[in-house]
Amino acid sequence: MHRLPVMCDGKKAYEIVMGEGTLFDAPDFDICAGKRVMIVTDDHVAPLYAEALKERLLPFSASVSCHVLPAGERHKTLDEVRRLYGALIPARFDRNDLILALGGGVIGDLAGFAAATYLRGIRFIQIPTTLLSMTDSSIGGKTGVDFDGYKNMVGAFHMPALVYIHPDVLKTLPDRELSSGIAEVIKHGLIRDAAYAEETAKRRDEVFARDHASLTALIRRSCEIKASVVEADPYEKGERALLNFGHTIGHAIEKAYGFRMLHGECVSLGCVAAARISLRRGLIGEEDFALIRELFSAYRLPVSAKDLPPTEEILALTLSDKKMHAGQIRFVLLKRIGEAFVSEDVTKEEMREAVDTLREGTA
Ligand SMILES: NC(=O)c1ccc[n+]([C@@H]2O[C@H](COP(=O)([O-])OP(=O)(O)OC[C@H]3O[C@@H](n4cnc5c(N)ncnc54)[C@H](O)[C@@H]3O)[C@@H](O)[C@H]2O)c1
Repeated sequence: MHRLPVMCDGKKAYEIVMGEGTLFDAPDFDICAGKRVMIVTDDHVAPLYAEALKERLLPFSASVSCHVLPAGERHKTLDEVRRLYGALIPARFDRNDLILALGGGVIGDLAGFAAATYLRGIRFIQIPTTLLSMTDSSIGGKTGVDFDGYKNMVGAFHMPALVYIHPDVLKTLPDRELSSGIAEVIKHGLIRDAAYAEETAKRRDEVFARDHASLTALIRRSCEIKASVVEADPYEKGERALLNFGHTIGHAIEKAYGFRMLHGECVSLGCVAAARISLRRGLIGEEDFALIRELFSAYRLPVSAKDLPPTEEILALTLSDKKMHAGQIRFVLLKRIGEAFVSEDVTKEEMREAVDTLREGTA
C-alpha cells in the first residue's frame, strides 16, 4: 500500500492512501471507530460500492448512514447541501463524527463543502471513484458548489482527513469519463514533468484496459505533482495557479457549451489553445505543439471543435473567470513541455486567435 503525506503550513495535514487488493481494506479507516459516519454518494456509485463500504465500517463505527444524491454537475448545488444538513441534524452528527465522500469530483466538492460548514467544520474522508477525482479534485482541500450557473462560486478550503484511492473502481467508470480524467493527468505532465506526459500516452491501451499497475503508477505520479503544487501554495495565492493550465479557455468553453461536454474534454481544448499561444510567442516549437495535440488525441480527447460556440462569447466568459487578478487574467503558458508559468499580459487578441484556430481545426 503506497502512502503519500500531504503537508499544509509545515505540518502533515493528511495522507493519500493507494489501495491494493480488497476494496476499502485499509487500516486508516480506523479513524471512523466509535464515530457516526455519513457516506455521501450519488445514484450511479451507490449501487456499485456503498454497500461494501458500509459493511467495512459497520463493525467498529457508532453508526453508518448513506445519503444518496442524483448524479451530475447540475446537482452540485446549495439545495443539495441543505438536504444533506437535513440528514445530519436528525441523526445527531456532532464535531466528532465524519462525512465520507464516495464518488467523483461533484460528490467530493459538495460533501467537502458540507463538512466545512456543518457545525463550523467536521472531518471528512475522500474516496474518489473517477480518474479526475483521484488525480485532481480530492487533493488540495478545495470544496464548493455551483451557484446560479456560476461554477464553484460558493466554497471553502477544508482539508480532508484522509484520501483513499483504489484504482479498481475505475473498472465500472465509462471510457469517456476515464478520458476526461486523463486530461488532468496530461496537464500535470505538461506543467511539471515532460517524461510523465509522454509516458501517459504510451500507457493508453493499459489505461483503457483498467490495468491496475499502470493506473496505480499514473495516479501516484499525478497525486505527487498535485500535492507538491498545493503544498507550496495551499490557499491559492500564487504557484497553485499553474494547475489552471488549459482552464481559463477550457472553463469558458465548458460554460459556453452549457456543460454538455465533460470537464476534461473542455480542458483538452483549453490546453491546446494555451499551447497555441505559447507557440505563437516562440516559447515552444512546432514539434512540441504537435506532440501536445497527440497526447490528448491518443485518449480520444478533442483538440479541435467545429461546433465551438462563438469566439466572442468564449472570450467574454474568460473575463468573468474567478482567477482574474486586479482585472487581469492570470493565464498559464508553457516555457517548454514540463514547465509552466503564469502570464498576466496575454491579450484578448492572442486568445481570440487561439480560440478561432480551435474551431478551424488548425489549432
Ligand atoms: N476541488 C477541486 O480541486 C476540483 C478540481 C477539479 C475538478 N473539480 C470538480 O470535479 C467535478 C467533476 O468531477 P468528475 O469528473 O469526477 O465528475 P462526476 O463526479 O460528475 O462523476 C462523473 C460521472 O461518473 C459517475 N461515476 C463516478 N465514479 C464512478 C465509478 N467508479 N463507476 C461508474 N460511474 C462512476 C458519476 O456518477 C457521474 O455520473 C466538477 O464539479 C469540478 O468542478 C474540483
